[in-house]
Amino acid sequence: MSTAHEIFAGGTAVITGAASGIGEGLARHAAALGMNVVLADIDSSRVEAVAEELSSGGTRTLAMCTDVSDPHSVEVLAASAYEQFGSIRLLVNNAGVEAPGLFWEVPVERWHQLLSINVGGVVNCVHSFLPRMINAGEQAYVLNVSSIGGLSAGPLQSPYLTSKHAVLALSETLYLDVQAAGAPVQVSAVLPGAVRTRIYSSATGNGASGEGLRDQLDQYLSNGITPAQAAETILAQAADGAFWIGTQPEELTAFATYRAEHLAHLTPPAPFAPA
Ligand SMILES: NC(=O)c1ccc[n+]([C@@H]2O[C@H](COP(=O)([O-])OP(=O)(O)OC[C@H]3O[C@@H](n4cnc5c(N)ncnc54)[C@H](O)[C@@H]3O)[C@@H](O)[C@H]2O)c1
Repeated sequence: MSTAHEIFAGGTAVITGAASGIGEGLARHAAALGMNVVLADIDSSRVEAVAEELSSGGTRTLAMCTDVSDPHSVEVLAASAYEQFGSIRLLVNNAGVEAPGLFWEVPVERWHQLLSINVGGVVNCVHSFLPRMINAGEQAYVLNVSSIGGLSAGPLQSPYLTSKHAVLALSETLYLDVQAAGAPVQVSAVLPGAVRTRIYSSATGNGASGEGLRDQLDQYLSNGITPAQAAETILAQAADGAFWIGTQPEELTAFATYRAEHLAHLTPPAPFAPA
């Protein structure tokens, strides 16, 4: 068993959505492990503030105002990260947003915007970083943040759950493509449970049902773990070589088992209900 420190210390991490929540927690933990940290986020003032704090603690950082849904913005991120640090050991495709509401009450523009961030953002980052990682020929790690929601169905979250199922499919196929190419890149899918972040409070609710669900989900997150706890468990499992990474591993197993049983019996969709 490897420790995260042995695997990651001295390398460089690129983390998208690093200005808040799980991404900020990952940036702080990567710094604590002795990594250089590239923090990318669309919120430039928050991402600069986090980077400055880490720099003042002795970490080499680069703060980038990046919109992951824009391939050009992501290409600038990759070029800048490689120019400053020479190689990247860890890429975490973490940036993501929510849009609660009934399927047809979420405006179609919002659907497309969410998918272009939550799914397109991962595609853009893989396109810009994987060829550079493969050319470098060094062991690298790519973590794509899905959700336990990527293993389940539920009402009033169609765009988000659709995107998180897609991130799982994308991660499984990327894993197999990397194997087929014989590239020294470990691909993992991260499926967080409840982590106390701003994801729901900063989401746009759509219609009365969307607003109501947003408040309920925000309440649900208040019982979750902290971003610091999530970050530590995520990087420990990545260092151990896991493909499936949970922030609350028992909950992940429960969701996976529930999903597997539903598929095995081809039963109609039903939200996860603990036994
Ligand atoms: N918090 C949870 O309980 C939970 C559970 C499962 C999965 N997740 C996933 O974890 C990831 C992080 O979410 P979080 O809970 O920390 O939310 P958060 O809202 O606290 O942080 C998300 C960050 O992404 C940034 N972002 C949004 N759009 C962007 C864009 N276009 N380009 C770059 N950055 C952008 C935001 O500015 C923000 O800093 C998301 O993918 C989310 O779906 C979270």
